[in-house]
Amino acid sequence: MSERSIKEPEIFFDNQTGQLTSPVITVSKKLLSGLENVFKNEAVRASMDQEQVVYEVECYFPVEEGKKGGLFWGVSRIYPGKVAGEYFMTRGHFHSESDTAEFYWGIAGKGVLVCMDTNGQSWAEYLKPNSLHYIAGNVAHRVANIGNESLIFGACWLSDAGHDYASIEQNGFSVRLVDLNGKPTLIEAW
Ligand code: F6R
Ligand code: MN
Repeated sequence: MSERSIKEPEIFFDNQTGQLTSPVITVSKKLLSGLENVFKNEAVRASMDQEQVVYEVECYFPVEEGKKGGLFWGVSRIYPGKVAGEYFMTRGHFHSESDTAEFYWGIAGKGVLVCMDTNGQSWAEYLKPNSLHYIAGNVAHRVANIGNESLIFGACWLSDAGHDYASIEQNGFSVRLVDLNGKPTLIEAW
């Protein structure tokens, strides 16, 4: 009988903190300076500290982007803050490849996931620790932090999904999430 070795894992994910530990992580940070025209009040965004980090994403890409059949894994952290009453949020996107779905799940903090289909119909749901969200293909998605602490959520998507930011840059979402008298409120944007 020959003995075979059992490997130690190299990648760890802490479900409590969202800490991803891997020899191969890609980190991207979004500063306020990189979010031009994302918030309704562009003048207020431009007047704020441009070096402020709004959100960051740590990703594990086991295969090259665009490869069919692979999966990507990411952890997003959105810091608390607002631009003229509108909560700090991700830019949001459709996937470039039509009909490529994604899972999001809440790890820490309080947020709202805003979705919009290709007809401009929008809806939103709270994203909180242990909530699980299936985002169907052809649905644009963005997350806002409605709390006073960091909002952390995980994501898993197809490696050939790609990201279409241009449609959202041009038209935005049909709803915006704003603080109205201390309450997160979804309002029509168009
Ligand atoms: C991947 C995905 C997330 C987001 C991340 C940042 O398809 O949906 O990992 O990329 O939350 O948001 P965006 O990409 O909209 O800046
Ligand atoms: Mn996505």
